[in-house]
Amino acid sequence: MTTRCDFRFLIEKCVFLFLVIIVSTYAKKACDRSNCSGPLKYYESLGCKPVYGNKSDCCAVRYNCDHLQLRSKNKCYVNGKEYSIREKLKEEDRNACDVGCFCSEGSDGIASFICAIVDCPRLRAPQNCYLKHSTDRCCGGPKVCLDDITQRPKCNVSGEIYYDGERFVVDSDPDLRCFCQPGYQGKNVEPFCKKPNRPYCSPDFHNPRLVYENCAPVYYQGQSLHKDCNFSTRCQKANDTVIRDVGSNRDESLMCTFGNLKMHVGDKLSQPVDTFRPMKCSCEVPPVVTCQYEI
Ligand SMILES: *[C@@H]1O[C@H](CO)[C@@H](O)[C@H](O)[C@H]1NC(C)=O
Ligand SMILES: *[C@@H]1O[C@H](CO)[C@@H](O)[C@H](O)[C@H]1NC(C)=O
Ligand SMILES: *[C@@H]1O[C@H](CO)[C@@H](O)[C@H](O)[C@H]1NC(C)=O
Ligand SMILES: *[C@@H]1O[C@H](CO)[C@@H](O)[C@H](O)[C@H]1NC(C)=O
Ligand SMILES: *[C@@H]1O[C@H](CO)[C@@H](O)[C@H](O)[C@H]1NC(C)=O
Repeated sequence: MTTRCDFRFLIEKCVFLFLVIIVSTYAKKACDRSNCSGPLKYYESLGCKPVYGNKSDCCAVRYNCDHLQLRSKNKCYVNGKEYSIREKLKEEDRNACDVGCFCSEGSDGIASFICAIVDCPRLRAPQNCYLKHSTDRCCGGPKVCLDDITQRPKCNVSGEIYYDGERFVVDSDPDLRCFCQPGYQGKNVEPFCKKPNRPYCSPDFHNPRLVYENCAPVYYQGQSLHKDCNFSTRCQKANDTVIRDVGSNRDESLMCTFGNLKMHVGDKLSQPVDTFRPMKCSCEVPPVVTCQYEI
């Protein structure tokens, strides 16, 4: 009797799971966020949560980053975990190039991770040889030499050909670090592909000051705000002013913060004084200002 009961329970669970899977795949397909505004990848790397105007919306109207307010300047943060000063970076939070990292108290009174400087030698492979890069190595992989270089294994990544040890990017999951290896069958799984153990884009790791000072990530023209890491950072300077957008809605619950300036959605920042290229900074999806070079 119990077994039957358990069995039924299991079936129900399976049907439920199945439905969940269908619904979530459908939702994923219907929502392509590549056209959503705002520094989405930046928000994700900080663990901010999307807030939608309507439940079924694809793009968030703002992100909830309240957890950042609860942080202590005497702790380091990675993957939502707290590290104490002098604590070593755990294996599960470490990427291949994070060597000898530990939480340090920082010269500006804000703790951050400090790591050994990894200086990868610039290797050049002699003829008939190549460097075999892989997910678990920081610098160029081991040198592989073949009698006949045309025998170098290949991978067919959705129609594009890569050679053994070459890196490729998967459009549907740009976070993945993938390297061609023999045996690749079009599945972007280990050992071919690996998610980073900590987000590469997050300012948390080396520069938490940028979060405390409400700085804005800066992208160059053509970068994708939902796929790419920011290229630099703009923090508030004495001469920065807000250019109000007269037409915008003045919803007080949708405000960006830049340094100690508050901006409504649609408001822009004056050109930075120290730039040689025009940069557009505006409040698109609060609370972080989005900056992008215009040329
Ligand atoms: C994104 O926007 C561009 C132009 O604004 C358009 O051509 C493209 O089809 C859009 N992509 C999606 C997935 O909506
Ligand atoms: C939510 O949906 C309704 C009806 O489609 C629309 O009128 C309203 O503007 C939407 N709200 C937001 C915040 O997008
Ligand atoms: C790569 O695979 C696709 C099918 O996924 C196939 O149509 C194409 O011919 C292959 N390309 C090469 C060069 O093997
Ligand atoms: C942006 O890029 C810089 C330089 O690559 C990096 O130090 C910083 O942590 C990134 N994040 C922000 C918010 O600026
Ligand atoms: C701010 O602007 C004034 C006048 O426009 C200029 O003299 C001053 O150097 C600027 N300050 C900074 C920090 O750029």
